Amino acid sequence: MEEFIAVFDSGVGGISVLKELVRQMPNEDFLFFGDSLHAPYGTKTKEEVRELTIEATNRFMKQGAKGVTIACNTATSAAVRVLREMYPDFPIVGIEPALKPAVLHCPGEKVLVLATPMTIREEKFHKLLNQYEKDAFVIPLPAPGLMEFVEEGKTDSIELMEFLDKLLDPYKEGKPDEVSGVVLGCTHYPFVADSISKVLGNKARIFDGAEGTAREMKRRLDVAGKLNPDVERKGTVVFETSSLNPNKIGMMESLYQK
Ligand code: DGL
Repeated sequence: MEEFIAVFDSGVGGISVLKELVRQMPNEDFLFFGDSLHAPYGTKTKEEVRELTIEATNRFMKQGAKGVTIACNTATSAAVRVLREMYPDFPIVGIEPALKPAVLHCPGEKVLVLATPMTIREEKFHKLLNQYEKDAFVIPLPAPGLMEFVEEGKTDSIELMEFLDKLLDPYKEGKPDEVSGVVLGCTHYPFVADSISKVLGNKARIFDGAEGTAREMKRRLDVAGKLNPDVERKGTVVFETSSLNPNKIGMMESLYQK
């Protein structure tokens, strides 16, 4: 493996970001690590998540990564600032809820932000909210329990539809709080985006942060002179997990193909 780009999440969700990274940098090598053993992160304390994220990043550095993407909104809000202080010259890019494009497309309208309880509680999100809440009516909605459907491979289940139906009821088409946009502020949620659309009604537009995150990673590598100059080569993707479930890697590969 050439010098690789590490991609990290609490579990399999960050594969939604990995796909976009590969789309934008097809000639690079990637190592995706999902910390499924310790997932969910969203209901842990900030200190716990920070420690797990620093531990993973330190390991990537030792393995020879040329950049790290924290493909987890929760881990980003808990640890990205500290990591940048620890490694000021190293390309480390996090992800945050795509509120900016959402308010741009839905000015003055209702925009729902779905994320983990920690992401919504953290200062980083409150700063983001302060920046954009004058442009649209932003409704933050913590969704504990939602990432588990993706993590456990139950994205086509009746239970998921029932869960979403209850969670999203006030925001459906035709209801007083009908929303025009939905920000998927957790990297697991793009894998249930179709179900979210179905429950809300087709009008609500969906936004996630993968495109902007991948663009920023590419820019940072470019500035550092670390992009692979061989544009013809086909890069590789390797999956790693902390999960003890022997089916986890297979599941990660099939989410990547989805
Ligand atoms: N995928 C993570 C995120 O983007 C969170 C899932 C979890 O709670 O572990 O926030």
